[in-house]
Amino acid sequence: MSLNLYDYNYKITRADREKLHGHEGFLIWFTGLSGSGKSTLANAVETQLHKMNISTFTLDGDNVRQGINKDLGFSPQDRSENIRRIGEIAKLMVDAGVVTLAAFISPYIKDRHAIKTVVGNGKVIEVYVNTSLEECERRDVKGLYKKAREGKIKEMTGISSPYEAPISPDLEIVTDHQSVETSVALILEFIIQKLKKG
Ligand code: PPS
Repeated sequence: MSLNLYDYNYKITRADREKLHGHEGFLIWFTGLSGSGKSTLANAVETQLHKMNISTFTLDGDNVRQGINKDLGFSPQDRSENIRRIGEIAKLMVDAGVVTLAAFISPYIKDRHAIKTVVGNGKVIEVYVNTSLEECERRDVKGLYKKAREGKIKEMTGISSPYEAPISPDLEIVTDHQSVETSVALILEFIIQKLKKG
């Protein structure tokens, strides 16, 4: 498919763009079950970063799936294609020098691994939002677990579709017994350290 394509070297590099922003661009990838709190945490972390004059953008499952990925469902193949495309978008955002946040179930280890290859290993912070299935089901904010238990949703993550937990995430947030504020503080601390190191 990629025949007769050539890279064009633009004068302005990522380093130039990062200099303009005053910080490097990187990706904060939130993974976890539906209802685990990925979007809540990404939203709160982005708000704090924005207050610190950091250029940010958030890619979110429900939003992306109503736009660029609206042709995709929840089969294993579609989930992988969903994450592959988001990885490519995230790469562009990071190249633009933006601190990019992504909140997707991203249930497969191989797909999350591929993100690191595409975006660059040192450019991705993997945050595992480790909320138990019991707690996600208890919260059931969107009513999806109830529907899944009634057989009205097929291939529901954690019920009838697998979730492969990260083996060595950069950060693990256990939300069952931890407040949003504490979780956000932990994530911000990690990011600030990264920004300092450059
Ligand atoms: S994935 O697995 O990474 O491709 O999923 P993602 O793009 O993050 O989309 C997850 C949101 O889709 C809604 N939804 C479902 N989730 C899981 N399984 C099934 N079958 C399903 N059907 C719809 C749900 O609102 C998810 O949002 P979050 O924020 O994760 O709860």
